[in-house]
Amino acid sequence: MEQVLTIDEARARLEQARARGLELGLVPTMGFLHDGHLSLMTAARRECGYVMATIFVNPLQFAPAEDLDAYPRDPERDAEQCADAGVDLLFVPSLEEMYPAPVLTEVSVAELAAPLEGRTRPTHFAGVATVVAKLFNIAGPCRAYFGEKDWQQLQVIRRMAGDLSFPVAVVGCPIVRADDGLALSSRNAYLDAEHRRAATALSRSLAAGIAAVAGGADDPGTVARIVASVIEAEPLAELDYAEVVDGPTLGPVTRIGDGARILVAARVGPARLIDNASVRGDPGLPA
Ligand code: PAJ
Repeated sequence: MEQVLTIDEARARLEQARARGLELGLVPTMGFLHDGHLSLMTAARRECGYVMATIFVNPLQFAPAEDLDAYPRDPERDAEQCADAGVDLLFVPSLEEMYPAPVLTEVSVAELAAPLEGRTRPTHFAGVATVVAKLFNIAGPCRAYFGEKDWQQLQVIRRMAGDLSFPVAVVGCPIVRADDGLALSSRNAYLDAEHRRAATALSRSLAAGIAAVAGGADDPGTVARIVASVIEAEPLAELDYAEVVDGPTLGPVTRIGDGARILVAARVGPARLIDNASVRGDPGLPA
C-alpha cells in the first residue's frame, strides 16, 4: 500500500491505475477505523481493480459546539488496517491541502439534509456533501462505498452524485454491528462500560420496531412510539428522535411498506449515537 498526502500525488497514482485499465473503488472515512469501515474496503477490494481509501476529519461537517477536537485519531493503526484490508492507495490530506483558502462554495442537498439529523445538526450535511464532492472530483470516475450506518448521509450523497452528474456509482453497504447489536462507530470510543451497555438501547429499539411490524403493526406513528419507548426506558440515554420514514426519500409514509426505514438518534453520556434498520429486519440485530 502506498500513502500520499497531496491531491496531485493521489491524482497521479489514479491516472496510472486507470492507464492499466483498473476500475477505482473509493472509500472515504474520517479514520479511527473499525470493522464497519473495513467492510467497505473489503467490498471495494472485491469489486474494483484499484482501491483508494481516504482519511480526513472534515471540519466543515462539525458545528462549533461539536466534537471536532475530541474526534478520536490513530493514523498508524489506521494505515496498518487499510493495508491489511487490501487498500492500494491511502490518501491522508492535511487541512491545508484540502482547504487552502476559506471555503466559499457549499453543496447543499436541501430536502434530504433538513429532516432527522438535520434538525439537530443543520449545517452537517452541507459539510459532508461539500467534502465528498471534493473527493469525487479528486478521484474521478469510480465506485464509491458508503455505509448504511449513516443512512441519511448515504441518501444525501447518492442524490448529490445524481443531481450533479458525478461519474460515480454510489454503493451502500450493510451496517456492521457488535455481537450485542450496537452499530460500530468511531464515537463508541467515548463510552465507558456503563454507557456502552446503555448504548444497546438504540439497536434494541430498532428490534422492537421490527418485531411490531412483523406482528402486524402498519401505522408509522405507532411503530415510532414503540421504538422511542425503548430508548426512553434507558436512564442513561436521552432520545433525540425515533422516526419511521420512506428509506430513499426520507419523507413521511402513511402506511408501513417494504421501503420503510426506522431511524433513531440518542445521546448516551458523552456520545451522540445514530442507528437505523429496514422495518423488515436486520440480520445483525438481536432477535
Ligand atoms: P466515518 O464516520 O469515518 O465513516 C466512513 C464510512 O464508514 C461511512 O460511509 C460510514 O457510513 C461507514 N461506516 C461507519 N460505521 C459503519 C458500520 N458500523 N457499518 C458499516 N459502515 C459504517 O461518514 C463519514 O466518516 C464522513 O461523513 C465522510 C463520508 C468520510 C465525509 O467526511
